[in-house]
Amino acid sequence: MARKMMIAGNWKMNGLSTDGVNLAKEVAAAVKAKKRDCEFVVCPPFTILALVKKALRGAKVALGGQDCHFEEKGAHTGDISPLMLTDLGCSYVILGHSERRADHGESDELVCKKAVAAHKSGLKTIICIGETLQQRDEGKTIDVCSKQILGSVPECADAKNTVIAYEPVWAIGTGKTPTAQDVEDVHAAVRKVLAKKLGRAQANKMRILYGGSVKPNNAKELLALPDVDGALIGGASLKSADFMAIADNAGC
Ligand code: PGA
Repeated sequence: MARKMMIAGNWKMNGLSTDGVNLAKEVAAAVKAKKRDCEFVVCPPFTILALVKKALRGAKVALGGQDCHFEEKGAHTGDISPLMLTDLGCSYVILGHSERRADHGESDELVCKKAVAAHKSGLKTIICIGETLQQRDEGKTIDVCSKQILGSVPECADAKNTVIAYEPVWAIGTGKTPTAQDVEDVHAAVRKVLAKKLGRAQANKMRILYGGSVKPNNAKELLALPDVDGALIGGASLKSADFMAIADNAGC
């Protein structure tokens, strides 16, 4: 089953106008510089989406938000709607990142509601799941990830509008990663749960990214795994050289 690799950058709460635009321009130039058979996405903070969109002009790099509300508009101070993201030229939105689950108490149910709204507005979703260190130590990794998939991925999800990102919480920003075998085991288990939920055909076509301390030196091994279809990259996406080295090492 050929699934197009995705290299996605999650800039998190990083990037003021000037450095964000410079980073986007560098990524755009590097993506344009050679023929690449991967999908590239960058997800800057809301505040510079429009500037980054402009900086990416002419390059095959999609723009994504890092979260959205489940309503189109209304009295939700500080929130951003899916329509606002499409209005700025976004085609993707990250949902249910562990930092939002932890910092904002986001539940599977809420993530699912947001995903439905995002799809309705024409956005594709990158839905994040992943276990904490304690859950891993207790041997609950597969159970936790399965439950998050069942609760966070809506019925309307398919391989065209949804990408899954498996990000062990303990691997994010720590420089630690699971072994390649552990990553493959979780991805294969997640695909099985997706098959139960959405049918085998969609599950086989749906991309499952790995995220959590992906760097140029581990990208080759992790991204060559049969059920790993790309990476969601935090820290290393803030330096264009590292971001593009990951892509190059993954054969993109
Ligand atoms: P990291 O973050 O690459 O800095 O570990 C990944 C993520 O949180 O998406």
